[in-house]
Amino acid sequence: MPATADPSRPLVIAIDGPAASGKSSTAKRVAAALGIRHVDSGALYRAATAAMLRLVPDETTWTEAAVLAAAQAVTLEPVDGTFRPLLDGAAAEAELRGVAVTSRVSVAARMPGVRAWANAMIRSAAAAHPVVVDGRDMGSVVFPEAAVKVFLVADPQERARRRLLERHGREPSPAEVAAEVAELVRRDVADAAQTIEAPGAVRIDTTGLTPEGQVERIVALARGVDRS
Ligand code: C5P
Repeated sequence: MPATADPSRPLVIAIDGPAASGKSSTAKRVAAALGIRHVDSGALYRAATAAMLRLVPDETTWTEAAVLAAAQAVTLEPVDGTFRPLLDGAAAEAELRGVAVTSRVSVAARMPGVRAWANAMIRSAAAAHPVVVDGRDMGSVVFPEAAVKVFLVADPQERARRRLLERHGREPSPAEVAAEVAELVRRDVADAAQTIEAPGAVRIDTTGLTPEGQVERIVALARGVDRS
């Protein structure tokens, strides 16, 4: 187990970055390599959004109080090395990752009360287990004391290509990449105020890195052996 800044608290490794920068898949693999749990903070914002969307489809009418009330349906279940958000006690992975939620999640994530709700859930998961957490502000706002802080960046074209490859299981066409770049840039703008690179974070540009290369780099940081 790597050394942590305060040995009395469980280890936290914080991985932040913009949409489709590879945070979640990298964080999951880093957690598996270190034998600890993964927490995907974006999945919680998605779960609150999905819960609200089930009640009120028009996001322009959403209020913070209504989203927080809807979010009471969300719980976090420890499963398979990660924490899975449940909606009314049931898994809803496809709903959380679908276009309806993805295109509205920034609306809920901008609400300060919703951020406080998500942060409290994430902190309570990390209080009981050593974790790798990924999101936008894990190293800056939620875990400023994290032992390792990483900020992943990648070229928008490459982010779009990877996202589409994952979604469709084939190389995307240039037109598909262009449409996905537009969607990613829209979400980067919508999330800009919440995406905060922590002071002292190690910035890793993954554009030319393989997933294995990213994981190795972060595992090495976590073990206190930065080979860069
Ligand atoms: O990481 P992912 O793309 O699944 O995140 C979904 C959304 O949740 C982001 O677009 C952003 O609006 C929000 N989010 C956030 N802060 C985090 C993680 C995610 O605002 N720490």
